[in-house]
Amino acid sequence: MTRRVIFNKKGGVGKTTIACNLAAISAQSGKKTLVIDMDPQGNASRYLMNEQYEAAREQKKTIYDYFKASLDAGSAFVFNPFFPRSDRNENDLGDYFHETAYKNLWMIPSHPALVEIETQLASKHKIYKLREALDAMKGVDAVFIDTPPALNFFSQSALIAASRCLIPFDCDAFSREAIYDVGQHIGDIQSDHNRDLHVEGIVVNQFMSRAKHPREIVESLKADGLPILSTRLSSSVKIRESHQSAKPMIFLDPKHKLTCEFLDLYREIESKNKKRKA
Ligand SMILES: Nc1ncnc2c1ncn2[C@@H]1O[C@H](COP(=O)(O)OP(=O)(O)OP(=O)(O)O)[C@@H](O)[C@H]1O
Ligand SMILES: [Mg+2]
Repeated sequence: MTRRVIFNKKGGVGKTTIACNLAAISAQSGKKTLVIDMDPQGNASRYLMNEQYEAAREQKKTIYDYFKASLDAGSAFVFNPFFPRSDRNENDLGDYFHETAYKNLWMIPSHPALVEIETQLASKHKIYKLREALDAMKGVDAVFIDTPPALNFFSQSALIAASRCLIPFDCDAFSREAIYDVGQHIGDIQSDHNRDLHVEGIVVNQFMSRAKHPREIVESLKADGLPILSTRLSSSVKIRESHQSAKPMIFLDPKHKLTCEFLDLYREIESKNKKRKA
């Protein structure tokens, strides 16, 4: 099972768009694919589940409910130390899976209330909870984890749970500054929590090939030795339609230029990983 996190502490760089579109391609290629939305904004949940997202929140089947249950199970243990741990299956994420409209594509949606339990989760040492849940999970070929634009409990949990990381980058000057912090943060996670975490690369998004400034920024990052992937994602208004209609690009418009770029990106990271394993 591949476990990929899409992370950048900067907002609006394309994390959700890239996570959901790559996951859709993975599902379409026949892999049983799961998207986990760790961002309280819930954009990935809305993108892939549309109206079903509200229902999932009402059914209490979101990643918030999973974490909340782990806090409640912890307090049951405190009040009844004789309650056998093995009788509790608190790592099972299966109860929180939702089908999407697309074959092979499942989702564990987010919830805005995640922010309310963040401090409690951190103080109760739940940072490994997601990793333990993925370790126990069966029957899934690929996991994509979308993260919030912050270095917080949820993005850390995701970086600890994953074995691969993609970093979207949108070619502006603030993003350039942020990318060095992101590298530092990932380095800390690797040395303190997750030696298996491999940075697959930086994805250049909304690239304007004819403009001089973005080209220069990308070249300067390359010169600094940063792992820039060769596929560039161009900017397209079609993405707005894709979000609004809750249809990832591969289903909305399989022949579109941006769809082809997502396919190229998917092939590039998959073939790099094959080479790494060989
Ligand atoms: N290639 C693209 N072409 C055009 N618009 C894009 C592209 N990629 C992303 N966008 C737009 O940029 C905005 C931010 O994208 P997205 O929500 O994927 O970023 P994000 O990093 O997940 O944001 P946040 O940090 O808020 O979670 C969205 O409005 C999206 O439609
Ligand atoms: Mg997002």
